Amino acid sequence: MPKILTTESGAPVADNQNSASAGEYGPLLIQDQHLLEKLARFNRERIPERVVHARGSGAYGYFEVTDEVSRYTRAAFLAEVGKRTEVFLRFSTVAGNLGSNDAVRDPRGFAVKFYTEQGNYDLVGNNTPVFFIKDPLKFPDFIHSQKRDPYTGVQEADNVWDFWAHSPASTHQITWLFGDRGIPASYRHMNGYGSHTYQWVNEDGEAHWVKYHFKTNQGIRSLDARQAAEAVGDDADSHQRDLHQAIGRGVFPSWTLYVQLMPVAEAADYRFNPFDVTKVWPHADHPLVKVGRLVLNRNPENVFAEVEQAAFSPNNFVPGIGPSPDKMLQGRLFAYADAQRYRLGVNHTQLPVNAPRATEAANYGRDGLGALNPAGRDRNYEPNSHGGPVQSDAALAAPVGLSGRTGTHATPAHVKDDDFFQAGELYRLMSEAERGRLIDNLAGSLAQVSRDDVVERNLAHFHAADEEYGARLAAAVAELRSADEA
Ligand code: HEM
Repeated sequence: MPKILTTESGAPVADNQNSASAGEYGPLLIQDQHLLEKLARFNRERIPERVVHARGSGAYGYFEVTDEVSRYTRAAFLAEVGKRTEVFLRFSTVAGNLGSNDAVRDPRGFAVKFYTEQGNYDLVGNNTPVFFIKDPLKFPDFIHSQKRDPYTGVQEADNVWDFWAHSPASTHQITWLFGDRGIPASYRHMNGYGSHTYQWVNEDGEAHWVKYHFKTNQGIRSLDARQAAEAVGDDADSHQRDLHQAIGRGVFPSWTLYVQLMPVAEAADYRFNPFDVTKVWPHADHPLVKVGRLVLNRNPENVFAEVEQAAFSPNNFVPGIGPSPDKMLQGRLFAYADAQRYRLGVNHTQLPVNAPRATEAANYGRDGLGALNPAGRDRNYEPNSHGGPVQSDAALAAPVGLSGRTGTHATPAHVKDDDFFQAGELYRLMSEAERGRLIDNLAGSLAQVSRDDVVERNLAHFHAADEEYGARLAAAVAELRSADEA
């Protein structure tokens, strides 16, 4: 026997095919609770999409420690080889809306939630080791320039490149984005990076600066511009379909996690600013140290409940892991939970995908829209004389020494710092064929810009990165622009 259909308050529904009317031909009755409830609920199905990274795909799995790293961090989930922790990972594109295409040139989000016994640890990274800008104050401007123009309603190369013309530090990430890895073939065939520098601290209080690298075990596969256009035409949801079907078939994607570690004392005199997210740390200086394996093996049961309502915040740390002074990261420590209070409400941390799984939240936060108030009748103030939760007295991370004066400061430059050298190094690492595709991709976009001064400003950045890079790009752009005029 099938279950009887009910209203939301549990009363049986007599007819789910015909609304109640005043006679066969008469108007509908306001007493038809089922009709009113069904239409009203339908009107409220959508919530605000994420302001960035709106389009994404998620899956559950586990992280297993394969190598000893407890001498660097006291995080319990990394304490011993063989230890497994449940994870949820959401992949995403950045600029597109919820209903946009998967196979586009855009960075990909790589956001991991580790459900550890000391609380949830969120590592909210991308598939690129660097980012476009250095200061969170510029993030809204940057995103505005990459999304739809307020007047034309479409993405404008003029805006995209105008922002970059004024943001020389983005040259490195632009080189990355327009290169071969700029359009992954699927979410399974790309790496993930924490991108920022974070802090690890061990039982003795000894701290290291750390960068995370998740290397795909499926191998890197990318699409060129033509293949991507075909993929978009064939299937707007190609990445979602690929991930869901692979996991459904039992072909579980995995990544190997490595970290780079820098002793805290090394940072001050490092030749470039190690907290600048537009730069990578060369492996020759800080080799990769293997940590473990991340495996995705379970699809969510319900995309809206578990993927759309998933909330990751770079500020969700656990003991043994903390932030660095990277200004971008510092801005992100605020932005995410704030976005989620708007998008999902103040009680989003109680939703099953976001709530801790290997421990329980125990605090005095109460009430608000949609509160479950799991603490029930317990006292809602602290301190109290009734055995309520108390502070641990153990700082999560190590204190960071400070000097200087308050004020607005440019990101500090170390002796060898400039905005271009790593873009040049990345260009010179590429094969001739890769360089050719990079130049074609860049020229195809830059040549669409209407103003010569904006084109020239951008070309100067590529010249500064590498003379050949700049010269080839300038020639390719000039050729396309003269062909357009002809
Ligand atoms: C100051 C710079 C940044 C700001 C202010 C910012 C802000 C945001 C906001 C507001 C969201 C939507 C959150 C939500 O509604 O749940 C978001 C999503 C995201 N951001 Fe950022 N972001 C910044 C830089 C970055 C960087 C550098 C990375 C990668 C290294 C990154 C990776 C992501 C990812 C992966 C998501 C999607 C998370 C998910 O799957 O739910 N963001 N960002």
